[in-house]
Amino acid sequence: MPTRQAPTDLDLLMLDRAARRGLRGHGLVEPNPMVGCVGVDADGICVGEAHHRVAGGPHAERILIERHGDRLRNGTIYITLEPCTHHGRTPPCTDAIIDAGIRRVVIGCLDPNPEASGGVQLLRSEGIEVDIVDHAPSRALSAIFRHRVTTGLPWVMAKWAQTLDGRIAARTGHSTWISGERSRRLVHRQRGRVDAILTGIGTVLADDPLLTARDVRHRRIARRVVIDPDLRIPPGAALLRSLDRAPLTIACSEAAASAHEARRSELVDAGVDVLPLPTDDGSMPLVDLLIHLSGVHNCSTVLTEAGPGVLSSLAAEGLINEALVFIAPMLLGDETGIPPLHGTVSESIRDATPLRLRSVHRRDDDLLLNYGVSSPPVDSP
Ligand SMILES: NC(=O)c1ccc[n+]([C@@H]2O[C@H](COP(=O)([O-])OP(=O)(O)OC[C@H]3O[C@@H](n4cnc5c(N)ncnc54)[C@H](OP(=O)(O)O)[C@@H]3O)[C@@H](O)[C@H]2O)c1
Repeated sequence: MPTRQAPTDLDLLMLDRAARRGLRGHGLVEPNPMVGCVGVDADGICVGEAHHRVAGGPHAERILIERHGDRLRNGTIYITLEPCTHHGRTPPCTDAIIDAGIRRVVIGCLDPNPEASGGVQLLRSEGIEVDIVDHAPSRALSAIFRHRVTTGLPWVMAKWAQTLDGRIAARTGHSTWISGERSRRLVHRQRGRVDAILTGIGTVLADDPLLTARDVRHRRIARRVVIDPDLRIPPGAALLRSLDRAPLTIACSEAAASAHEARRSELVDAGVDVLPLPTDDGSMPLVDLLIHLSGVHNCSTVLTEAGPGVLSSLAAEGLINEALVFIAPMLLGDETGIPPLHGTVSESIRDATPLRLRSVHRRDDDLLLNYGVSSPPVDSP
């Protein structure tokens, strides 16, 4: 489906603006895509912008048309994602665009969902000029949705805090605190926006984390998830003492689930979702855990807060989509300190996982680096 002509600078500017607006839906719209749009009237004057605000609520373009429809006749609408054609929880957006008498529609990327796609053809058949721009920020905005629709897996964000010399904990396992207070607040904000927070038994034993979002606005309550092959989680673990605040899944090996049946029943009776997984040479395929989180718990986003055991397993299976790395202004100076990844995920530089820098932020003296891992790489709006 070719683009009619190269996008103008104004087209790109408006799509950038729509993509920035769409980000406001993060943590509110999933499993739907984040979508933003901007309307311009027949004289080229920008009349407003809108975004998809909540899953099940009206789509971005419908909100825009409801607010500014009278000024959009013969105008242009810029949308980060192809407008839908289907009756889901809301009526098709293509109908709203046609009824509003909009003359031109500029789209940042096509809808990967076969149920909802076809908007371009439908609008063109109604005589509306439609331009599809391959717009990286629009693709990035819908990357979580696109990934889940095309792979069935949630989007995995691997977060860790490291010293400048690349250690996430001292050799003793002590890691509190490497990053500063403002960085940690950002992590809590992110915890309040994702569907699941994943860690490993190593971190539970070392840090006894709660993994809830504290002192920030919750957009959703994340399920805590622990990879604990031998069901070693202590009965007094903070994760078990806080089941009234957020649900918990524990992934263990099938062998441990049958060997420790009483322990498993205790956990299940307490309300824990215990997921036995097959092992291959002692290792559980983490893709099965992600399929479970997506299929059973409807998770679109997973934030990983774990040590090298889990991070290396995820990296070895190619399951990390994004890395959020806090670099703290300190040098540990101990080669036996704990690195973010270990083992032999890649044997040579040629095999190393390529990353793409999406953004750099400063929080006091910490740096937050955000890298995309997915292929093809995506840019941040
Ligand atoms: N600075 C930071 O951002 C940060 C964040 C989190 C943690 N940490 C630090 O990291 C350290 C803990 O590291 P860690 O590697 O021990 O902890 P971890 O990654 O939380 O857990 C590792 C454990 O998970 C299990 N596991 C992981 N992948 C598996 C798979 N595919 N199949 C089966 N089991 C799997 C293994 O358990 P078994 O051993 O039972 O086989 C492994 O030992 C602590 O010192 C903690 O403070 C630092």
